[in-house]
Amino acid sequence: MYSEFKLAPSILSADFSNLKGALKICDDGGADWIHVDVMDNQFVPNLTIGPPVVKSLRKNTKKFIDVHMMVINPENLVEPFARAGADNITFHVEASEKPEEVIELIRATGKMVGISLKPSTSFNEIKPFMDKVDLVLVMSVEPGFGGQGYIEDSTARISKIKKYLNDNCLERVQIQVDGGIKLHNAQEVISAGGNILVAGSEVFGSKNPNQVIKDFYTNAHSIQSI
Ligand code: DX5
Ligand code: ZN
Repeated sequence: MYSEFKLAPSILSADFSNLKGALKICDDGGADWIHVDVMDNQFVPNLTIGPPVVKSLRKNTKKFIDVHMMVINPENLVEPFARAGADNITFHVEASEKPEEVIELIRATGKMVGISLKPSTSFNEIKPFMDKVDLVLVMSVEPGFGGQGYIEDSTARISKIKKYLNDNCLERVQIQVDGGIKLHNAQEVISAGGNILVAGSEVFGSKNPNQVIKDFYTNAHSIQSI
């Protein structure tokens, strides 16, 4: 019934002067993916990470590197991130006039393809691309910063997207949810249909981050086994 659960800790909330330490936390906790938030000070107000940092991460982990591009003109950065060692590249539908071309560009690199939408963007904007992508990233906060509160309407939206995918034989498309994910609301998000959860401040803001990662998996497996 459920797709396999994965946790993708977001290093946005980690100590940027010690990213090796952040990777070790993800290793010790057993996280599947490393979520990398790329912000350009144009699509969102914040400014973060570029391909050189992903290249360094790649040298220091075998884990799946998940690049979430919150940038305008995402087509310009597809190849640099692919070459740097990203395994999945997600872009925002609002950031491009030609989403189909961005999808094709990512596909041509051999990487997984993700498409994302802001909380206020209608699902109709990405519906036409659902048969061309591997994952849909549902933003459950306004993109730009870690540590915000989960927007409650997101749960109904995830359910709606999950139903659309099931009704259209697109179960292979994974649903990733990003923003305000905590141990206390993870079960709600998974029950609605999200199977890849991004968590930044909950993991890296904790005194015992590897235990938090483990707790996410215990939590998820308890409902996935029902
Ligand atoms: C926000 C980013 C998120 C962020 C999540 O724009 O896309 O990945 O790191 O952080 P938390 O889990 O603290 O909401
Ligand atoms: Zn993100």
